Amino acid sequence: MNTAGTHTIETERLILRRFTVEDYEDMYTNWTSDPEVTKFLSWPTHPDKEFTRTLLTEWVGYYSEGKTYNWGITLKCDDRVIGNIAVVERDERTKSYELGYCLGRAFWGKEIMPEALEAVIRYLFENEEDLSRVIATHDPRNPKSGRVMQKAGMHYDGCLRAAKRNNTGIHDTAYYSILRSDMVTKEQYAALFNEMHPGYFERDYVKNVPDDEPASEMLLRLQSFDGDIYEKTFPDDVTFGFYDGDIEALKEEVAKVVPHWVNFFGKDARIYCGFVSGKIASFCMIQDFGEHMVDGMKWKIGGPGCVGTVPEYRDRGIGLTMVRNVTQILRDELYDYSYIHYTYETGWYSKLGYTTFLTWTGSGIK
Ligand SMILES: CC(C)(COP(=O)(O)OP(=O)(O)OC[C@H]1O[C@@H](n2cnc3c(N)ncnc32)[C@H](O)[C@@H]1OP(=O)(O)O)[C@@H](O)C(=O)NCCC(=O)NCCS
Repeated sequence: MNTAGTHTIETERLILRRFTVEDYEDMYTNWTSDPEVTKFLSWPTHPDKEFTRTLLTEWVGYYSEGKTYNWGITLKCDDRVIGNIAVVERDERTKSYELGYCLGRAFWGKEIMPEALEAVIRYLFENEEDLSRVIATHDPRNPKSGRVMQKAGMHYDGCLRAAKRNNTGIHDTAYYSILRSDMVTKEQYAALFNEMHPGYFERDYVKNVPDDEPASEMLLRLQSFDGDIYEKTFPDDVTFGFYDGDIEALKEEVAKVVPHWVNFFGKDARIYCGFVSGKIASFCMIQDFGEHMVDGMKWKIGGPGCVGTVPEYRDRGIGLTMVRNVTQILRDELYDYSYIHYTYETGWYSKLGYTTFLTWTGSGIK
């Protein structure tokens, strides 16, 4: 991978800049001398200022090699360093970087670290074309660090037992990651939407969606989908599967939910249902939305459409289990994303991990 190197990053309240050897006193005073700060870190508390100065001299030397990412964190109003954020591990094979950070105790609780972390993640993805993944880890007994990762938009991947060592000894390690594909901008999502639905806002039924009732579009990344996220136990007469019965019989059930949907359930539609004693309780179609380029990556997108549960079978978990099964089918068929188009049921789909990427009304994308 190319390395852009450590250049100044400005955020709303912070300047992240290269260290100079002269920073050693502030660095020592603010964090390297404080056992509370280093408790869950892998390096020991510094015994004196000279120790910090020696380390800093080494770090500053690395800048000239152009291969290091290592920033001192400063407040815009004060050039003194209050913390540090750096790439601490690289994996060329998976195009992955690990970030580490620490902050002087006097500056905790002010949302400084999430601001710095988010800015560095963005900088790395913008400046390293090949970079695919950024990770960060923490000791679960230090949950504050995990919250920093969450606030910076990172995804919790799991916890490895006794995987690392810090000043408290060998410890379990919580892993967070963010992928390039997680960094898609609002403009890129809008472009994807327009590509998938050309001329959308010229249609009458779309024009009529009022401004105070925005509809949502949702996505779920399938590689990380885990069907166990929603588990329901059903009596034996509840079953799930593809529908290959009479299409007119299906349309009768669809009409009980949203009458105009019957037009979408043609004989070529791929239909999946939940059944109670063989009768249709829930239904949807499995749609293929094709392949789309997003931020230089090809996304194969599919998704459940016209999802409904016949009123008498609602609130039993049948509808959501059906959507879960369809999501698993799409994952097994190697789709990259499952997509829900035009919904007001965001709370319901979010139980499976779907997230809203865009909202719209008759007047356009919000
Ligand atoms: C939306 C709809 C499909 C739900 O079907 P359903 O079979 O009753 O839903 P389920 O019973 O599977 O719901 C499962 C869970 O979601 C919860 N839930 C239901 N609606 C919810 C909502 N709007 N927000 C959050 N949770 C919701 C239920 O309480 C249940 O929780 P639990 O299993 O943890 O106790 C059904 O109400 C329907 O057909 N509505 C009309 C058509 C429609 O709007 N379809 C969606 C179009 S995109």
